[in-house]
Amino acid sequence: MGRDRDVAAFDQRARDYEEGWRGRLHHEIADRTADLALGCVPAPRRILDVGCGTGYLLRQLAGGCPGATELWGIDAAPTMIEVAAATSADDRLRFRAGTAEELPWTAETFDLVVSTTSFDHWADQQAGLTECARVMVPGGTLVLVDQFSSLLLPTLLAGRRGKARTKRRASKLVSAAGFRSLRWHDLYAVIIRAVTASKQPAPH
Ligand SMILES: C[S@@+](CC[C@H](N)C(=O)[O-])C[C@H]1O[C@@H](n2cnc3c(N)ncnc32)[C@H](O)[C@@H]1O
Repeated sequence: MGRDRDVAAFDQRARDYEEGWRGRLHHEIADRTADLALGCVPAPRRILDVGCGTGYLLRQLAGGCPGATELWGIDAAPTMIEVAAATSADDRLRFRAGTAEELPWTAETFDLVVSTTSFDHWADQQAGLTECARVMVPGGTLVLVDQFSSLLLPTLLAGRRGKARTKRRASKLVSAAGFRSLRWHDLYAVIIRAVTASKQPAPH
């Protein structure tokens, strides 16, 4: 499980998660993430969203990917998954409760793995990224979006100690998970950034 307090709070907020200014903010980030992801992988077949919340990003991706056969979302908060499943009519969209650190798929399943504003809550960020690499086909693409900024350095001395909240720290973890060709993108305001990376093909 992720940090229990964070996940419990998300579970409680799930039914009105998409309401109000916070809902609009997450939609805007998700819309920009979908554009970025489809710029990197124009016609993905199998997509995974890790920490998918209520599934808004996957619904956007489904609309832009007529050729996709399966779009899976996983989230540690069961009520998020309940809401996501109830709101998603497209039968290519599927949802499961579970964590980034233990993804319930066999190796080399997805050609696109996305995650928006969830990474900061993963209990073990390195394990989660290693799992993202495991379930991705060689040459597949990761799009990881969260708060990454040196402006957040003071928070690392307090409640977010040990978290990868800077480009430098996150790049280290993404590379250690086996991803290559990292590129950073400014996504929203000054601190929401995306890193895109690809899984290294297996050596011959
Ligand atoms: C801020 S919400 C983001 C939801 C959605 N991705 C969005 O952009 O609106 C963070 C989500 O990450 C989930 N989460 C936290 N820790 C997790 C973990 N270890 N594995 C999977 N999901 C996790 C939470 O339950 C929550 O739904």
